[in-house]
Amino acid sequence: MENIKAYVQEHKDRFINELVELLKIPSVSADTAYSHDVFETADAVKASLEKAGCDFVEICETPGYPIVYGEKIIDKSLPTVLVYGHYDVQPPDPMELWTSPPFEPVIKKTEIHPEGAIFARGSCDDKGQMYMHVKALEYMVQSNTLPCNVKFMIEGEEEIGSKSLSWFVERNQEKLKNDVILISDTGMISNQQPSITTGLRGLSYVEVEVTGPNRDLHSGLYGGAVANPINALAKMIASLHDENNHITIPGFYDNVVELSLEERAEMAKAPFNLDNYKKALDLNDVYGESGYVTNERNSIRPTLDVNGIWGGYTGEGAKTVIASKAFAKISMRLVPNQDWEEITELFTKHFTSLAPAGVTVKVKPHHGGQGYVTPIDSIGYKAANMAYTETFGVPAIPVRSGGSIPIVALFEKELKSKTILMGFGLDSDAIHSPNEHFGIFNYLKGIETIPLFYKYFVELSK
Ligand code: BES
Ligand code: MN
Ligand code: MN
Repeated sequence: MENIKAYVQEHKDRFINELVELLKIPSVSADTAYSHDVFETADAVKASLEKAGCDFVEICETPGYPIVYGEKIIDKSLPTVLVYGHYDVQPPDPMELWTSPPFEPVIKKTEIHPEGAIFARGSCDDKGQMYMHVKALEYMVQSNTLPCNVKFMIEGEEEIGSKSLSWFVERNQEKLKNDVILISDTGMISNQQPSITTGLRGLSYVEVEVTGPNRDLHSGLYGGAVANPINALAKMIASLHDENNHITIPGFYDNVVELSLEERAEMAKAPFNLDNYKKALDLNDVYGESGYVTNERNSIRPTLDVNGIWGGYTGEGAKTVIASKAFAKISMRLVPNQDWEEITELFTKHFTSLAPAGVTVKVKPHHGGQGYVTPIDSIGYKAANMAYTETFGVPAIPVRSGGSIPIVALFEKELKSKTILMGFGLDSDAIHSPNEHFGIFNYLKGIETIPLFYKYFVELSK
């Protein structure tokens, strides 16, 4: 393995160029205008797996975007690592806030990434992190050090709820059989302090529609005499939190697992600087549920947030109008053991009951998924920690993340295996935001660290 560092140094320009090419294809799964590009990206991923040394690669058609499956089976009696990642990306908007076009990758230096970072949509989430695994495989094949079997499953619908992947996993348990699932689609604390994600939050995503009069009305002729759907929606949304920022939906917290004071004390050991946190976001203060600190609020506690709200007139100038309808998209991040379908039902029942006289309310569930927590005494966790310790010089810290990868809970249910979340991104990499980027250091460190995971996982499995 001493050679991996040398191999990365020798080939780093090519590794970067290959990723840049992949980032140029705008594989936005949410917007059908990009459909052709999403399919093209699947083909590019397939070609990259073939080149890296998979023995068998295929494009698996689904009702939606395809799944790229690849494998290299060296000996059936050895363990099998299943690598998951996604080749789809978030929509790039708002376009005007990008300092360079989202699908024309450029390398720029930043304060946090003095060695440069690749700026492009998908650079960190998740093309860059997924591609580290392809290059790690290339190294292990080239150097004859692949110590076990490997399977790849790269999907194109992660950012829109992984519907086709659920369909695929339910139908292919045998094909996907593995001893551990390895994913790089999360972050770490900093480039000096690696961390391993031990938990993900669940998600319930809904859209609400409030209807008042059957047409938009003159706000002078009718104002004050009919309910205004936008006013009503604003009031309903405001009532979803109380003065302590607790969520007011009856039953919402019933199944929430509370952490012990010991567990919370353990969490508090992870390095965190509140002033830097505020400064990075230009905030004059943080916010959240009373009784919990920032790192708890965004990981072990459930939340409810409006993601978008619209209705009425938002164009230039002023138009005096009472809109017929108002809408909002609302997400709830969930923690163990909240069930996303149950929470969606609780929300629907409560939200419709909030409707004041004069309006009607509809709730449309979008998608969701269960949360996930993984123990730190598994072979997979230990192997990951040994790998990070070797490449970063310090052990990794276990951290529960606030983000969601709903498919991870489904993997456990259908494939009966644990997932190890070896992320190399940073919170400041601006995933889902304008100017998303991925550090060159992080990309290359990831390629270096992954083969060590394989090595230690196989050693510990003996
Ligand atoms: N890679 C992210 C999730 C993530 C990022 C987890 C950083 C932990 C740390 C993933 O692509 C994502 O964006 N997931 C969505 C959920 C999905 C159902 C749309 C999310 O968390 O909003
Ligand atoms: Mn992702
Ligand atoms: Mn994402």
